[in-house]
Amino acid sequence: MSAIADNPVWYHTLEVEPGVKTPGWFELAPVANRMPWPDVRGKRCLDVGTADGFLAFELERRGAAEVVAADIASADQWDWPERLRGPEHLEEVTWEPGRGFALAKELLGSSAERVELRVYDLTPEELGTFDVVVCGSLLLHLRDPLAALRAIRSVCAGRFLSANQVDLRLALLHRRVPAARLDGLGNGCQWWICNPAGHRRLVEAAGFDVERESRMYSIPYGEAHVPRGRSPRSIGRRALRAVVTGGDGVPHHALLARPAV
Ligand SMILES: C[S@@+](CC[C@H](N)C(=O)[O-])C[C@H]1O[C@@H](n2cnc3c(N)ncnc32)[C@H](O)[C@@H]1O
Repeated sequence: MSAIADNPVWYHTLEVEPGVKTPGWFELAPVANRMPWPDVRGKRCLDVGTADGFLAFELERRGAAEVVAADIASADQWDWPERLRGPEHLEEVTWEPGRGFALAKELLGSSAERVELRVYDLTPEELGTFDVVVCGSLLLHLRDPLAALRAIRSVCAGRFLSANQVDLRLALLHRRVPAARLDGLGNGCQWWICNPAGHRRLVEAAGFDVERESRMYSIPYGEAHVPRGRSPRSIGRRALRAVVTGGDGVPHHALLARPAV
């Protein structure tokens, strides 16, 4: 379908009509059911850090009455490590916030509304409150995930579904101890990569009670992802991921929480 080519870089692999997919970096559809979804039918929902909108469209598909999809206006609003701030680094960012979402929304006939807002700036005054808030693969990219979670809590009147990348090594070494690996230097704009217990603790520390959580799962790479190396080490890591998370890709953990009273 030629319309897909109007967006040169897709974050998400999205099936925009039967058998027709956008060439994304990541394909969430095969693992969406591994997440502990609440019942969203008839609910007002928010997707924070929507990218090209997979989770927002999934909320609609599951029967949400209204979906708001929040993301930043431009890549300079990401929490860049200090040494990567500046125009020369931003020029290297190829994905354009909002472009894929707008095109996918049209192709899917979606009513989800995209708003340009940093997670830290979520307030009930700005957007009202939501029965369900989802946030996928964003916390690791934030310098201050607790401030982000507090802002999410301020607009969450029902359930919060949080999915986050996890560090497999920390997950295996420390099953019960909440832990995180600090990056803060790399091009991937990553900060705190938790183990599942760390992810859970962040959400609890921000004032939520956890109701259910997933086992670890891996988000598969999409067709646009540059293939990984074939060194014995990377093959070994891939095999370990497959054994522990049930597949290849980026290891994740998801949980369903509600604001603590
Ligand atoms: C790794 S992608 C995850 C996309 C999607 N939520 C998912 O689960 O596949 C992170 C998204 O969060 C957005 N983002 C980064 N920093 C943000 C911030 N401070 N506030 C809101 N969105 C942010 C990025 O623009 C990007 O769309």
